[in-house]
This record gives sequence, C-alpha cells and structure tokens, in this order.
Amino acid sequence: MGKPSKTPTSKRSRPEDSPGHVSPPGTSFTEILDSIDKRLTCLDSRLALVEVLHREFQTIRESLEFGQQQVVSLAKENAALRESVKSLTNGVVNLTRENRCMKETMLDLQAKSTRDNLVFAGIPEKTEEDPEGTIKSFMEHQLKLPTDTINNITFHRVHRLGAKKPENKRPRPIVAKFDHYKQKEQVECHPYLSQVDLLAHCRSVAVCLTAYSPLGSGDRPWASADEPCLLQDHRLGEISKRCHKTPAQIILRWHLQRGVVCIPKSVTPSRIQQNLQVFDFTLSEQDMKLIDSFSCSNRFIVPTVEMDGKRVWRDAAHPHFPFHDLY
Ligand SMILES: NC(=O)c1ccc[n+]([C@@H]2O[C@H](COP(=O)([O-])OP(=O)(O)OC[C@H]3O[C@@H](n4cnc5c(N)ncnc54)[C@H](OP(=O)(O)O)[C@@H]3O)[C@@H](O)[C@H]2O)c1
Repeated sequence: MGKPSKTPTSKRSRPEDSPGHVSPPGTSFTEILDSIDKRLTCLDSRLALVEVLHREFQTIRESLEFGQQQVVSLAKENAALRESVKSLTNGVVNLTRENRCMKETMLDLQAKSTRDNLVFAGIPEKTEEDPEGTIKSFMEHQLKLPTDTINNITFHRVHRLGAKKPENKRPRPIVAKFDHYKQKEQVECHPYLSQVDLLAHCRSVAVCLTAYSPLGSGDRPWASADEPCLLQDHRLGEISKRCHKTPAQIILRWHLQRGVVCIPKSVTPSRIQQNLQVFDFTLSEQDMKLIDSFSCSNRFIVPTVEMDGKRVWRDAAHPHFPFHDLY
C-alpha cells in the first residue's frame, strides 16, 4: 500500500506539477517536440513576416525607382516648359514692339492722310485688280495691322496712278485717300491736359479725338490772374524760336502729329491764317516728348468757385461730375 501504483492516470498528471519530480523520458521527448513545434511555428510566422516585409520593401523600391524616373521626366518636361515660356516671353516682347511700331505707323498714316493722299509704291500689279483689296492686303501682311483696324478704315478713293503701259514693267503706285475712325469724341485737350489715356483708349476703339480749347483757351472770361497761360510757356517759346513758328503753330502741330483733330478759335484773321500753316514742318520726337511732359491735368473749361482762398471746381461734389474719372 505504501508505494504509489503506476496507473494510466499518471500520464494525465503533468510532471512539472509536482516539484522535484524528474519527468519520465517519454514525456520529456513530447515536450521537446512541442517546444520544437512551437519554435518552428514561431519561425514560420517570422519567416512569413520577413517575406511580407521583403515584398513591401520590393514594392517600395519599385515605387522609388518609378518616382525617380518620374522626377527625371518631370525635370525634362520642366526644362522644355521653361524653354517655351522663354520663347513665348520673347514672342510677347517682339509683339509689343511690333504693336508699338504699328501704332506709330498708323498715327503717321493718319497724320498724312488728313492732308494728303497716301501713295503706296512698289506693290506688284495684277491684271484684274481691286486696288482697295490690294491695299488692305498690304496693310495686313506688310504693315501687320490688325484685321479690326483694317475693317475700321473707310476708303474714299483708291486707284493706280497713271495709265497702264505695256512697256513699263514697274508697278504703278497706288493712291489712297481714307480715314479709319468709326466715332468722334470731343474733349478739352492741350499740352497742359494731354489726355494720354483717353487718346490711347480712343485709338484702340477707332474713335477720333477732337480737342476743344486746343490752345489753352487764353481768353476764357473766368481765367484768374495766377493761372498759367499756355501760349506764354517759356519752353514752348524755345521750341517756337528753334522751329521759326509761333507758339500757337507749335501746339497745333503737336496735336496733328498725335493724330488729334483740333478746333482753335480766333477772331483775328491773321491768326486764323497762321493756324492753317502747320503742314509745312514737323516736330522732332524730342520736341513732341518735351511738349508731352507739360501735362499737369490742368482743366481750364470747368466752372470754378473760390473756397477758403482757393479756386476749386464748382460742381465737384455732384454725383454726376465727370472729371474725377480717368476718362
Ligand atoms: N465742346 C465743348 O464743350 C467746348 C468747350 C469749350 C470750347 N469749345 C470750342 O473749342 C473752340 C476753341 O476753344 P477756346 O476758344 O476755348 O480756346 P482756344 O482755341 O484754345 O483759344 C482761343 C484763344 O487763343 C487765341 N488764339 C487763337 N489763335 C492764336 C494764335 N495763332 N496766336 C495767338 N493766339 C491765338 C484766341 O485769340 P483771338 O480770338 O483774340 O485771336 C483766343 O484768345 C471753340 O470753337 C469753342 O466753341 C467747345
């Protein structure tokens, strides 16, 4: 009775449950197998993890490589875009220059057109020709005038000069009389109020600007003693001496060269005559710029009142007072 009997139940009781007990060899082996099994399972899951990590690493590497390729191709695209922006900027600069040249050409043509027929020489002659069409095409392709501007030109008379002679191989000149305005606008304009912005706007929409009080309206009854007198401006006097023309003629020529129609008033026959003699000289670009620089937005043809010892525009506070606007 004192010895414990070995029964099958001893298999169920775990040896480590009894302290100091040495496990029988069979049980140890199972445990070792279990432990190996556990470790293998653990290793398997680690391997699986390594595999996942490896795959992710691969994916990251591939996307990095793809990203690098994209960076390279984006850099190329960027360089190409820079080039095209550069060439577009150059194009814009050239167009702006051409535009300025065209405006000057047009202004010149207008100035000449007001007094003369224009003569276009050297334009090839066709057998059955429409001279107006030829001039329009010349303006479009040679003078590079915008189509809108050409469409706004009214041709009064266009024809080849002289009779056609078979022995003469050179094209006959084309004579044209035209103007290109659609509307007219009349405002106060003189060197002290040169209306640069309004003039530019009028040109852009083919409106002819007419200057009233073009000489500064020296005899206006409301002129105060301290107001400047345009015709006596010493800078004008210097140009006048140099050009051997009167200050009034210099101002009228300035209007003319800007393409502005002007309506000077005089009750003096000699002055009326003088004011017509402005087509036989030209102001240099420098003199034009000098006269342009006189502008100080000085309006003479606005009723004024005295307020706190100062002359101010009488109706400036009226909601419809027009002269606060640029134009
Ligand atoms: N649409 C509008 O709202 C409006 C407004 C104002 C004026 N206007 C019109 O614009 C025209 C002219 O305006 P404005 O009379 O005010 O000013 P203006 O023509 O600028 O100046 C007229 C003054 O200049 C003098 N003058 C003319 N030619 C001269 C010359 N060669 N040498 C020296 N002095 C000369 C005139 O003197 P003399 O006469 O003594 O020779 C007069 O004193 C007028 O027909 C007027 O009806 C229109």
